[in-house]
Amino acid sequence: MKRHNPDDIRSKSLSQPFQSVLGERVSRRSLLLGAAAATGASIAPGFVGSIFSGEAVAGGTASSLTFTELKRVYDEKHHVAPGYVADVVMRWGDKVAADAVDFDPAAQTAATQAGQFGYNNDFIAYLPLPLGSASSERGLLYANHEYIDPQIMFPGLVTTEDDGGKAMSAEQVAIGMSAVGASVVEIVKEGGKWKPVQGEFNRRIDLNTPMTISGPAAGHSKLKTAADPTGTKVFGMTANCGGGMTPWGTVLTCEEFAYESFGGDADKTAFKGDIERIGYENSDYYGIARFNDRFNIEKEPNEFNRFQWVVEIDPYDPKSTPVKRTALGRFGHEGATVVVNKDNRVVVYLGDDDHMEYLYRFVSKNSFNANDRTANATLLDEGELSVAKFEADGTLNWLPLVHGNGPLTADNGFADQGEILINARKAGDLLGATPMDRPEDFETNPVTGRVYAVLTKSAKRKPETVNPANTRPENKWGHIVELIPPGEGKDADHASAQYKWDVFIMCGDPSKPETGSKFSADTTTDGFFMTPDNIAFDPKGRMWVATDGMNDFDYADGIFGVDTDGPGRALPKALFAAPSGAECTGPAFTPDGTTMFVAIQHPGENSDNIENLTTLWPDFVEKMPPRPSVIAITREGGGEIGA
Ligand code: FEO
Ligand code: CA
Ligand code: CA
Ligand code: CA
Repeated sequence: MKRHNPDDIRSKSLSQPFQSVLGERVSRRSLLLGAAAATGASIAPGFVGSIFSGEAVAGGTASSLTFTELKRVYDEKHHVAPGYVADVVMRWGDKVAADAVDFDPAAQTAATQAGQFGYNNDFIAYLPLPLGSASSERGLLYANHEYIDPQIMFPGLVTTEDDGGKAMSAEQVAIGMSAVGASVVEIVKEGGKWKPVQGEFNRRIDLNTPMTISGPAAGHSKLKTAADPTGTKVFGMTANCGGGMTPWGTVLTCEEFAYESFGGDADKTAFKGDIERIGYENSDYYGIARFNDRFNIEKEPNEFNRFQWVVEIDPYDPKSTPVKRTALGRFGHEGATVVVNKDNRVVVYLGDDDHMEYLYRFVSKNSFNANDRTANATLLDEGELSVAKFEADGTLNWLPLVHGNGPLTADNGFADQGEILINARKAGDLLGATPMDRPEDFETNPVTGRVYAVLTKSAKRKPETVNPANTRPENKWGHIVELIPPGEGKDADHASAQYKWDVFIMCGDPSKPETGSKFSADTTTDGFFMTPDNIAFDPKGRMWVATDGMNDFDYADGIFGVDTDGPGRALPKALFAAPSGAECTGPAFTPDGTTMFVAIQHPGENSDNIENLTTLWPDFVEKMPPRPSVIAITREGGGEIGA
């Protein structure tokens, strides 16, 4: 099991399940979502959209994606569709800083790691150089480094995947703290190939990097520590999983499961319930609390509250201080994707990746100004955070997480707006938000204006806790929900209090009806996917899905392209297959759509230990462990990905 995969985490949200709603209102919507079988109703032909297989399908016949799809394959190597090329751009240990030393896994130190590309790249972004240009041949590669795999990272470390933190030496723990965070690397395309440059923008950010805390919770009493009585300064970020880019050229990076970097007994703190609601289980999985008091919740409980935020980083200014934006709330952050609304306010869609957790939306108070980058720098400090409630009749209501709104008062433990943001999950519980099947990426189609929420899977969903938007008990395969704001394309109103919604895809093997999967009827045995995680849209508005968890079904995780509209709606095609044990993360396009960058995370993580590896990707050199890496996918002879 992947260490960062929270399948074993207890579900703690309090919102009521929707089974009563389903029982009372067998609506068109609930039929669409698969409630027919449960209620004994039959699906009336005619109103079921083309996404559905079986008798009610209108039938998709033509994907706009013209490439020949990759045949299903899963082995120690990566594979890409015919006519496409996948080149490695940056590997764990490659030089980021100009004075970095060559990577030697047997001689690694915290100092050497601090100058090198970190471990387990996840969200990636491509930012054109110079700032303001649309260059697709020179830019900055930003990469999150989510977590480490000690059991396959350190030669000689005797451990299992569950006791790394207890077995690691002080130096190994320090290496781990340097190997997480993020990298910024200048890259250029020469002769059709991308390569890194040790340029002025290059930097590493890790668990020791000074950061500031801004927004409504900055300076809150629950964010003050002995080392920082102001409650506004913190060292480092970790568990940075998904993310997004702003239109002013910064990156939003999401702290997802930072609680695994903490240790200590929650019973010995004054706010055990709040700590556990965020997922804390005293794992100290990376050994950090053994050597750093601030990560021991018994010694410094408020340090815990200074993690699990969205962090804004300016890759164009290598001296800039990353900022934790408290207005975006504190939970198990995954995606933080930005769209400029038709009224120029900035909207951020935010997922909380855990079982039975929620989807959130932030709408800025002030407007984006394309001509004033400095003014945009504080846009994410003021605005309204809300949480999604899906109704069985196909409406979606955004419920404001605002102090004084309904139960969000001091009587219920929220003294002020800061407390609501620090404990956003508890506020969502009280408002009756809809518990989802582990929200991962959450992103707007730039062409249609529709928004897609990716629910990776949740085997912990019970029959008694299904709801209109999460209809499958023991959802092993995941699904993608389509959110429909009023208006279309650039006229979509992403600040509206009410949307409509639909299901886009129900994942699973379409040849196995028992999975309840729903794709276009033309989906091939090579093209269907499961356990979706990150998505990206190409310039034409086609969705590209990166999966995380197909290994559990003995399939490679990969990249799949799929139309969201037209005859090819919900008809995925396979482009890329990752090597053994790896998930695909990221995808990021150059502005012209001719390069797709993909992060290959945790190759070989399914290995028992470093002596018995399932892959040596990408180097395939003895004594060199598998290395998480970012690759560039291009077409032989050039041209748009997918065409
Ligand atoms: Fe780190 Fe939600 O995947
Ligand atoms: Ca993810
Ligand atoms: Ca994305
Ligand atoms: Ca995942």
